[in-house]
Amino acid sequence: MTTHAAPTTTPRWADSSRGLGRLIEALIGIGLLRRPLFFQARQLIIRTAESNGIPWRARRKELQQAAEPLLAASTTAGLTPPAYYLSRFHAYEQGNLCWQAAAEAEQATDAMALRVWPEEQLMPAEAQARLRDAIHAVAEPLLPASIDRVVDLGCSVGVSTQALARWLNARAAASSAHPPTLIGLDLSPEMLSVARVRDPQGLVHDWRHAAAEATGLASGSVDLVSLQFVCHELPQGATRAVLAEAARLLRPGGVLLMVDQDPGSSVLQRLPAPVATLLKSTEPFIEQYFALDLPAALQEAGFRNPSIRACDPRHRVIACLR
Ligand SMILES: C[S@@+](CC[C@H](N)C(=O)[O-])C[C@H]1O[C@@H](n2cnc3c(N)ncnc32)[C@H](O)[C@@H]1O
Repeated sequence: MTTHAAPTTTPRWADSSRGLGRLIEALIGIGLLRRPLFFQARQLIIRTAESNGIPWRARRKELQQAAEPLLAASTTAGLTPPAYYLSRFHAYEQGNLCWQAAAEAEQATDAMALRVWPEEQLMPAEAQARLRDAIHAVAEPLLPASIDRVVDLGCSVGVSTQALARWLNARAAASSAHPPTLIGLDLSPEMLSVARVRDPQGLVHDWRHAAAEATGLASGSVDLVSLQFVCHELPQGATRAVLAEAARLLRPGGVLLMVDQDPGSSVLQRLPAPVATLLKSTEPFIEQYFALDLPAALQEAGFRNPSIRACDPRHRVIACLR
């Protein structure tokens, strides 16, 4: 496993103050260019995914149909999302708050896992399992023997939450302990509706519609907080607020497990300009994410001894104790 020093340098393409980054910023600021760019990119993403064994369109139809009736049960009445959450994420006009984004999230997550090892011929499920196993392996040495309650902040359609459930249930079974209670939490009712459809066995006990920075869960009630691929979707102030909430939720000795893009990864540093343009135009807060000194933010939130590891060629895991 490689370890990158932190804080790491923002890749040139993401730095809008100079050079390539400034050019990309100017290009994506031209509204007329954005639509055709998104359209072409979307067609390419779907074609590539389908040729790699991800049934993108068929699965979208199936998931949306099954999830639509679950929307009311997945919505907390009166919850207003913060303004940044209404941004145009991933080229969806309504960001994470629409059926298209929710019914394509599983496929997009599998496509993301396949992109990590482009030179290998992996099945989507195999790539996903490899990605999650490497994340869990970083947290394993920090975990207490018995884990009662786990919350997955920004759970989306539950890919990360179900992987946590499989890992932690097997871990509990190996020591004859009770399997933990798992909570998946997200701000998108559409994502949570799809998560329910994807979890027919009820591996996850509660799919909760709330903000990660104001979960409404009791202080000191959780042993493990997971925050997977969420911080690159947050402005820096929101990341700090989420870390403070995670610290509040964890019991002393509890563990925070984070994973996201690794700005120090050579793959990200050397991203070809067209791919970088696309990434930057669909991830409105990625520059803020790269520029944030996460170890300092974690310390400020009350965490100790962060262990930062590259878990694969594109991502870094941060695991730390409360
Ligand atoms: C890329 S997805 C993460 C997927 C999932 N954790 C995984 O690893 O497969 C990011 C998710 O974070 C959610 N999210 C973003 N900001 C949030 C916030 N402030 N509170 C709760 N969820 C949030 C989005 O709705 C989206 O579902």
